[in-house]
Amino acid sequence: MFSAPKGVPDYIPPTSAAFLHVRSTLTRAAELAGYGYVELPVFEDTALFARGVGESTDVVSKEMYTFLDRGDRSITLRPEGTAGVMRAVIEHSLDRGSLPVKLYYAGQFFRAEAPQAGRYRQFHQVGIEAVGVDDPALDAEVIAVGDAGFRALGLTGYRLEITSLGDANCRPAYREKLQEFLAKLPLDEATRQRAELNPLRVLDDKRPEVREMVAGAPLMVDHLCDECRTHYDLVKGYLTELGVKFAENPRMVRGLDYYTKTTFEFVHDGLGAQSGIGGGGRYDGLMAQLGGQELSGVGFGLGVDRALLAAQAEGVLPEFSRVDVIGVPLGEAARARLVAVAGELRAAGVRTDLVYGGRSMKAGFKAADKSGARLALVLGERDLEAGVAGLKTLATGEQVSVALADVVQAVREALKPSAEGIADAVPGGVEALASDLGSDVAEAVRETP
Ligand code: HAM
Repeated sequence: MFSAPKGVPDYIPPTSAAFLHVRSTLTRAAELAGYGYVELPVFEDTALFARGVGESTDVVSKEMYTFLDRGDRSITLRPEGTAGVMRAVIEHSLDRGSLPVKLYYAGQFFRAEAPQAGRYRQFHQVGIEAVGVDDPALDAEVIAVGDAGFRALGLTGYRLEITSLGDANCRPAYREKLQEFLAKLPLDEATRQRAELNPLRVLDDKRPEVREMVAGAPLMVDHLCDECRTHYDLVKGYLTELGVKFAENPRMVRGLDYYTKTTFEFVHDGLGAQSGIGGGGRYDGLMAQLGGQELSGVGFGLGVDRALLAAQAEGVLPEFSRVDVIGVPLGEAARARLVAVAGELRAAGVRTDLVYGGRSMKAGFKAADKSGARLALVLGERDLEAGVAGLKTLATGEQVSVALADVVQAVREALKPSAEGIADAVPGGVEALASDLGSDVAEAVRETP
């Protein structure tokens, strides 16, 4: 027997409906801010990520799924979305049109991380990128879109952390200062090496003894150049205007190298170690790094899998059903007719299923109950002769008879959110139909426990 590769989740019903709900709620937030959809390849030239994301990052040095294709080209399954979007922007000259270019994407990403709850080797992101304009109002917009997406899901148990990482102007001097500070500490060899490669990462060390040692380390936010300082202050001001709550975290470290100026993370408190439900920031040098113009961009990636876990943890997911109406045929002729009626209902936009397989009446009703449908459309041979069908509200067992010719209309009425039940489905209400109780459908209903 096969099982899915290690660390790769399957989403099957009913969870898969919740997954789709999370994804579409997040993409809706992007659409509401004018982002256009891009569908990009899940694999790209390996060099794109090595150059874009940074050779020194864990993502590139340890976590990429890289292989040679049949033409001996080095290919990598995308570990993140920003580099691919920049590649597409440059390739299709979108940066020569009106700016900013605002794009969103949704799809699978791949990182060979040690799997655990909320950390997968194939995971899903909804991401946005706004490319070509360095305006702090755009940073605030991007952050607000992420926040709006999570709020639209009903999430409240998360916080937004922001900071500024400076730019090519002020970061090198700060980096040197930090390295000088770290060089004086009695760090172990591995940490010392990390301090050489990426000193910022040492600030994010989770070990209490290291935390204590770096407590007095210089922070980027205290060493920003005037331009970056003003930029950061404006972003915070716009966020306040937008009503987006945030906390500053000057020790935030992101796992990708391209960030400059604004960086941010959405952190959920109910998920244990894998608490980052989304993150992003501005990237000044990425486009030029990939062979394009000197244009800046800003964006985020929101973790769909983790947002789903967060929504489950907070109990904010609605009930999902896969179907509205299920047809229960009692006999061959009734089946033939219900097959046709199901087609009509679907064409009218009603999600319709049938009980298949020539089951007994009892098994048929059991299947209808299990389907999750709100209504059952029951048809027996005698009903067929009389030109009627039974329309049953499965939650209450209440049933009315409707003319077969009016079924589509009756079902639509009964499904309207304002309808009180199937009584609304038939002109004259339930009383008008009480005389039908001699039908085989009514008998069947009485027999069903
Ligand atoms: P990232 O922080 O690496 O950023 O990933 C964004 C989000 O993807 C994380 O906050 C997390 O929710 C989710 N995620 C990452 N790795 C995993 C995993 N192994 N399992 C489950 N979920 C995961 C980026 O990828 C940037 N491209 C975001 C960005 C866009 N920055 C600017 N533009």
